[in-house]
Amino acid sequence: MLSNLLLLICILTSSSIFTTHSYNNKCLRHQETLLLQLKHELIFFPSSSTKLVRWNESAECCLWHGVECDASGHVVSLQLDEEDISGVIGDLSSLFRFKYLKKLNLAYNGFNDAIPKGIGNLTCLTHLNLSHAGFVGQVPSEISSLTRLASLDISNEFGNTLSLEHPNLEMLVQNLTELRELYLDGVNITSSDERRKWSHIELSHLPNLTSLSMAGCSLYGPLPTSFWQLHSLSILRLDRNNLSAVALDDLFTNFPSLTTLTLRECSLKCSIPSTFGNLTELIHVDLSYNSLIGSLPSTLFEGLSNLVYINLWRNSFSGNIPQSLFALPSLLYLFLGYNQFNGTFQLDNFQSLPNLTSLDLSGNSLSVDTGNVNSSSYGGLKLKGLGLNSCNLSSFPDFVKHNMDLKYLDLSNNSIAGEVPSWVWGKRLGYLNLSFNLLTNLQKPYHIPASLESISLESNQIKGELQLSIPLDSQLWSLSLANNSFGGSIPISFCNATNLQNLDMSRNKLSGSIPRCLLENISDLDLSRNNISGNIPDTFPMVCSLYYLDLNNNALEGKIPKSIGSCMNLGYMNVGNNMINDTFPCMLPSTLLVLVLHSNRFHGDLRCNKNWPSLKILDVSSNHFSGSLESIDFSSWTSMMRGYLDGEFERKLDVALIMKGQMVELYKIWEDFSTIDLSSNSFYGKLPNAIGDLTSLHQLNLSHNALDGSIPKSFGRLSNLESLDLSVNQLAGQIPEELGGLTFLSVLNLSYNKFVGAIPIGRQIQTFTADSFEGNSGLCGFPLSINCSNTNVPPPGYNETGEERKEIEWEYVCAAVGYVVGVGSIVWLLLFCRGFREKYFGKIEEVVEGMFIARDMRRRRARRAAAAMNRVIRRQ
Ligand SMILES: *[C@@H]1O[C@H](CO)[C@@H](O)[C@H](O)[C@H]1NC(C)=O
Ligand SMILES: *[C@@H]1O[C@H](CO)[C@@H](O)[C@H](O)[C@H]1NC(C)=O
Ligand SMILES: *[C@@H]1O[C@H](CO)[C@@H](O)[C@H](O)[C@H]1NC(C)=O
Ligand SMILES: *[C@@H]1O[C@H](CO)[C@@H](O)[C@H](O)[C@H]1NC(C)=O
Ligand SMILES: *[C@@H]1O[C@H](CO)[C@@H](O)[C@H](O)[C@H]1NC(C)=O
Ligand SMILES: *[C@@H]1O[C@H](CO)[C@@H](O)[C@H](O)[C@H]1NC(C)=O
Ligand SMILES: *[C@@H]1O[C@H](CO)[C@@H](O)[C@H](O)[C@H]1NC(C)=O
Ligand SMILES: *[C@@H]1O[C@H](CO)[C@@H](O)[C@H](O)[C@H]1NC(C)=O
Ligand SMILES: *[C@@H]1O[C@H](CO)[C@@H](O)[C@H](O)[C@H]1NC(C)=O
Ligand SMILES: *[C@@H]1O[C@H](CO)[C@@H](O)[C@H](O)[C@H]1NC(C)=O
Repeated sequence: MLSNLLLLICILTSSSIFTTHSYNNKCLRHQETLLLQLKHELIFFPSSSTKLVRWNESAECCLWHGVECDASGHVVSLQLDEEDISGVIGDLSSLFRFKYLKKLNLAYNGFNDAIPKGIGNLTCLTHLNLSHAGFVGQVPSEISSLTRLASLDISNEFGNTLSLEHPNLEMLVQNLTELRELYLDGVNITSSDERRKWSHIELSHLPNLTSLSMAGCSLYGPLPTSFWQLHSLSILRLDRNNLSAVALDDLFTNFPSLTTLTLRECSLKCSIPSTFGNLTELIHVDLSYNSLIGSLPSTLFEGLSNLVYINLWRNSFSGNIPQSLFALPSLLYLFLGYNQFNGTFQLDNFQSLPNLTSLDLSGNSLSVDTGNVNSSSYGGLKLKGLGLNSCNLSSFPDFVKHNMDLKYLDLSNNSIAGEVPSWVWGKRLGYLNLSFNLLTNLQKPYHIPASLESISLESNQIKGELQLSIPLDSQLWSLSLANNSFGGSIPISFCNATNLQNLDMSRNKLSGSIPRCLLENISDLDLSRNNISGNIPDTFPMVCSLYYLDLNNNALEGKIPKSIGSCMNLGYMNVGNNMINDTFPCMLPSTLLVLVLHSNRFHGDLRCNKNWPSLKILDVSSNHFSGSLESIDFSSWTSMMRGYLDGEFERKLDVALIMKGQMVELYKIWEDFSTIDLSSNSFYGKLPNAIGDLTSLHQLNLSHNALDGSIPKSFGRLSNLESLDLSVNQLAGQIPEELGGLTFLSVLNLSYNKFVGAIPIGRQIQTFTADSFEGNSGLCGFPLSINCSNTNVPPPGYNETGEERKEIEWEYVCAAVGYVVGVGSIVWLLLFCRGFREKYFGKIEEVVEGMFIARDMRRRRARRAAAAMNRVIRRQ
């Protein structure tokens, strides 16, 4: 009854006599009180709030920021987005007493609770936006009673924390017949069981729906037939679902009014059907990150004269770039990068599109000919972003010189030789990538414009001393000069770049010391493979954002600076191959994933009063460390025990390796990769039993120490171990039979110890050669040539029949399947084929540094570059 009455109020107040004005001056006292109560109830950071914090400033509450009233002074709209509100809104909150509220926006806040059921009391609502507000759990059924809703946004793309199972999507919208906009991105729309049947979802009772957005909802299967009745649909976003079973023809013929269609990352595998031409209203189309194939008919875009945005990035389109693209008068954004388009492409084709803003042809098999572009007419071009990565360019495109608007320029991976012309710096550039060319010097003068945010000159042949002048208001946050021949010292002008977060000057010929100011803001710093000397400055700030520090292969001395202890994000630290003379840096934050101290002058033991629970790789080899291994608390190295994986690290391991000409994703194998290398120190004492608990361990190297005692049987639990090196110690006793069960083991070195008895017979041990066991005068049995029969020691695990198990069958099988590719078979081969395994992991060791460090940095940079490009685009 009451709710019917309220509904009546809504209907009355929304009729034309009561129009909504934000500028009327009739703040009702009780509405003001309610607003102040609401402000009092909400938890928010005054420093990030722009609206709530200013309520109360004037007597006229209808003029408060984010508040709108109707003519009679009732609050009808509350826009509380991006106010950094956290905590819980109780069902009894004052919020639900604004009976006249029509528009409520709580987007982009930090609630961490279910959507409050009290929302159901706001029966007048026509616009409800709860997107990215931190709400979690099941969407309450109360929303389904808000029958006047025209727009509902509960998108939640970062984290999939909202779900729509009970009620499910159909129940939720059953009575919301006036809906025009429905945004459900990232919401788990049904239980995984039902999701398979999303094609039965009934939405046909929403005849007025114009916008439907369901990106990242884990949908799969064919398109629901009920969708076909959504004749008014104008905006359809289904990115990041598995739509491989959806016939594009259905989409293209049933929604003639589509203006926006985005199907990014939808596992589409077909070619584009000619019915694409039916979408004559189309303005914005995004089909990027799929596996779409075939050549695009030259007439494909004929008649689609409204197109403004076309994104076909990262598909497998081939053949020529269709001519009909150059007759789209409204086209502003064209992204064709990372396909297999081929042939020679004349850039002057685009002269028919003088308003084109962003163009990307990168990563195809195109030879782009920039020569015919008429500089003077192109001078009028509005191009703001140009991506010509891998386009077979041999010189700087001349027309760019005349384009004053350019903000994004990627000319990487070409064969551009000679000098970087001065005019490049004279622009309003934000992003400049000239990496992987044949550039040899920088034409003088070169002034970095303040607008530049990201520069890469990586992997060229640039020589000479770096004399960058960086203005004080520089926006620079990423700079890579890696893999050139820059000499001299690190320019002090970096101190002007107060936004600099990523600096990669690795693989150059730099000398001198590290400027103190350099460490003050940095988050990624790579100075490896230079000749930098002196101490690492003790100038890490109290609020330190350092994540990645690579100073490997220099001539640094002194100690690890104490201030690095405040870098609470530090994940990767490599100071290997220097002359640092210090004890173990116990102050390092416990966030560390990778720590390399290899080949320095570290001394003392490894005992600290803290843990590194995330540590995956520890290399302290070739130092002067000593102490008993038994004093190390291996049980605290939980990451090596459980295969714990940090999200950032996961991305770090998102590496690929080219092997036998095939790309093999190492991702799965590397997932819980971990290494301990304590070799070439002076550790002594027994091997602790607890090492056997480090079950995620892939590599263990304790060689060249002074360890004694025997190998604990617990080593048999190291079921992921690929490499075990205990050589050159004083270890004694028999080799435990359990080692034979380590099926992944491809490197075993027990040489130069005091082991005795028979080498155990195991699935694995016989695959190693005599080198693995030499220098142990008491050992006998295969693969050594010393026969055990004289010694009367029964070989552990030896079959009574005396028959040695042969690996020969496996060799046979391996040869037979040797040419099979694909990850599944790779894993299989790794399990059973020794030769293959050795090559495989041998390769890993060889590339570990290059890949793990350099390539990953490059990838992260590429990601950031993409983000930068997006920013540039969005700003326009
Ligand atoms: C919401 O409505 C229910 C009943 O419809 C009522 O009991 C409750 O007090 C209302 N909540 C507020 C905050 O008005
Ligand atoms: C949503 O689905 C994802 C993937 O199936 C799952 O990990 C997540 O826990 C679900 N969230 C909720 C709130 O059910
Ligand atoms: C929709 O409205 C009908 C009729 O008022 C009602 O019976 C039904 O329960 C409502 N559905 C939902 C999901 O609220
Ligand atoms: C759809 O919109 C039309 C025109 O705006 C309107 O007359 C009709 O009532 C709407 N239908 C529903 C179910 O709300
Ligand atoms: C859709 O496109 C196909 C092929 O181009 C054409 O035969 C058909 O008539 C078009 N349908 C409509 C409704 O435009
Ligand atoms: C280019 O933009 C200008 C101004 O925005 C507009 O007047 C002109 O018609 C556009 N040209 C084309 C070919 O669309
Ligand atoms: C482009 O690729 C197609 C096959 O996808 C091939 O037939 C054609 O010869 C290639 N053209 C050039 C110029 O390489
Ligand atoms: C730092 O910036 C100021 C002002 O832009 C400039 O005069 C000075 O030369 C810069 N310093 C260096 C070392 O580049
Ligand atoms: C390390 O420094 C100490 C003095 O601080 C010195 O006695 C020692 O010789 C140094 N060790 C090495 C290997 O240089
Ligand atoms: C020895 O090998 C034979 C044949 O492979 C098998 O039947 C027997 O069980 C084995 N004995 C032991 C002790 O493993």
